[in-house]
Amino acid sequence: MRLRAKTCVVTGAARGIGRAIAEAFVAEGARVVLTDIDEEIGRATAAALGCEFHRLDVGEEADWTAFAARVPALDVLVNNAGITGFEDGPASHDPEHASLEEWHRVHRVNLDGTFLGCRYALAAMGPRGTGSIINISSRSGLVGIPFAAAYASSKAAIRNHSKSVALYCAAKGWQIRCNSIHPAAILTDMWEALIGDGPDRDARMAAMVADTPLKRFGLPSEVAALAVLLASDEATYMTGAELTLDGGLLAGSAASPGSPPED
Ligand SMILES: NC(=O)c1ccc[n+]([C@@H]2O[C@H](COP(=O)([O-])OP(=O)(O)OC[C@H]3O[C@@H](n4cnc5c(N)ncnc54)[C@H](O)[C@@H]3O)[C@@H](O)[C@H]2O)c1
Repeated sequence: MRLRAKTCVVTGAARGIGRAIAEAFVAEGARVVLTDIDEEIGRATAAALGCEFHRLDVGEEADWTAFAARVPALDVLVNNAGITGFEDGPASHDPEHASLEEWHRVHRVNLDGTFLGCRYALAAMGPRGTGSIINISSRSGLVGIPFAAAYASSKAAIRNHSKSVALYCAAKGWQIRCNSIHPAAILTDMWEALIGDGPDRDARMAAMVADTPLKRFGLPSEVAALAVLLASDEATYMTGAELTLDGGLLAGSAASPGSPPED
């Protein structure tokens, strides 16, 4: 019951990591409000968890204004909703060929969505001066990704904006914390589409995480466990931090000079 009596809002909570975070928050005694653009799955998830649901497109300012009228006060916001830009199939997102339209589409959800979410949270938490904002960035926010440049740029900007929010709150004398989580490959529907079924499923999965020191995908529940810590009063001295959750991927580099040969 580490989140007892806390009101927590999770964006993009219909499925995947957002759903896992909502589930973990409920298990810790929170009142959780789920939001998403996918009303059908969102409502079904909320019903399964015994929570309320609101349709909210995170990139739409008017949606946040309407949402703020319905949920004017909260303790925890998780800005989780995000897109890679490849949801409808392959597209050119490299720095040479990405269209401005595609670039903006990805940033609208990932970056504008996080900015608007943080702004809502400050208004909703500010009067009490306490709270926790958790921004789901990515490993891609810490390194360059040549063929997903828009995604990487938007996630890097989330990392930096989290620190601006953290410092702004501190300067105001508020105990409102803001931190970013940087997961690498977490097994959700996003990956399932690439992995597919069939006899070579395990081999394909192993190949995808061959460079990950722990040699496996992460689980949505492992992201949720970190979100619970950041949301709880155990993390009240933690703000402006960036937390990698990547099976050791960024601890070293596959491109570094090799180790001495084994005997
Ligand atoms: N899965 C991974 O490997 C991984 C790794 C690093 C970071 N992330 C980040 O974690 C977050 C969740 O990823 P996931 O794998 O669970 O993705 P997912 O695609 O399974 O779920 C994303 C959810 O966000 C919702 N959504 C999309 N656009 C929205 C919008 N405009 N407004 C509100 N909701 C919207 C979708 O309907 C969906 O329910 C994303 O920000 C993603 O970038 C995921």
